[in-house]
Amino acid sequence: MAQALKIRRVAGALGAEISGVNLGQELSDGVITALRQALVQHQVIFFRDQQMTPAQQVAFGARFGPLNIHPYVAGMAGQPEIMEIIKEPQDKVNFGGGWHSDMSFLERPAIGSILYALEIPEYGGDTLFASQAAAYDALSPGLKQTLATLSAVHSASREYSAAGQSTQKRSSMSVAEADGMVGEYVHPLVLTHPESGRKALYVNPAFTLRIEGWSKRESKALLDFLFEHSRYEAFTCRFAWAKGSVAFWDNRSVWHFALNDYPGQRRHMRRVTVDPWPEGAGAAAERVSEAAL
Ligand code: SIN
Repeated sequence: MAQALKIRRVAGALGAEISGVNLGQELSDGVITALRQALVQHQVIFFRDQQMTPAQQVAFGARFGPLNIHPYVAGMAGQPEIMEIIKEPQDKVNFGGGWHSDMSFLERPAIGSILYALEIPEYGGDTLFASQAAAYDALSPGLKQTLATLSAVHSASREYSAAGQSTQKRSSMSVAEADGMVGEYVHPLVLTHPESGRKALYVNPAFTLRIEGWSKRESKALLDFLFEHSRYEAFTCRFAWAKGSVAFWDNRSVWHFALNDYPGQRRHMRRVTVDPWPEGAGAAAERVSEAAL
């Protein structure tokens, strides 16, 4: 069954399109393992012409880990693990319209996100992805050594505060104002991927507030450099959606950016977000030997 999968890389740094699989069906463990290996290797994987009910999307996502229920964005009625990402023709702001890594503001950030396209504008609305593993690889040994000693503070306070982009100027999604209830969590600035062992930068412009133990001004100098570096074109790929397309990205090594270049048109997606297994549980499932990749 797994042999029927066809995997075609779409760019030098990351991204592969996979055909020969119907994600709405109950898939064998072999196929799930092959998809997980492809995700770890290519960092973002794409599928075309899929058909999934909300329950099927939840069932598919749950094969990779427990599904996240977003703390600030209301889930779908009756299926809270599904986040409906909708931009109506009258909306000015879109969801995810800046470089970020999903849920880095949580204590245990999401490992992956699975986005399914229901309605796509006639033009525009692509999503950009940037490999933070490629961004890390391109740094000098000296800076890598320094970064390995640092951690960064992440929070949802900017994005989901009353003044933030996500709560304002949008009528189509129910986003809570997180003022006063968000925490700050510290993550290493360089993340070693638990499945591949590959290192990646783990800071992002949406949710990283500062370097731990540094002042805001000091942090800004380094973070501005890293944010600029990390979106260099050669580290990216771009996905043009069609109805039925699916993208599954690895939040541990990928940034993404939903382009907002389709004013007056509607775009409707459904996302499930995969959390890490609770400590200890499922570790075997996550362990993919280098040899298999
Ligand atoms: C997101 O999950 O940030 C949204 C991505 C998109 O809608 O393309």
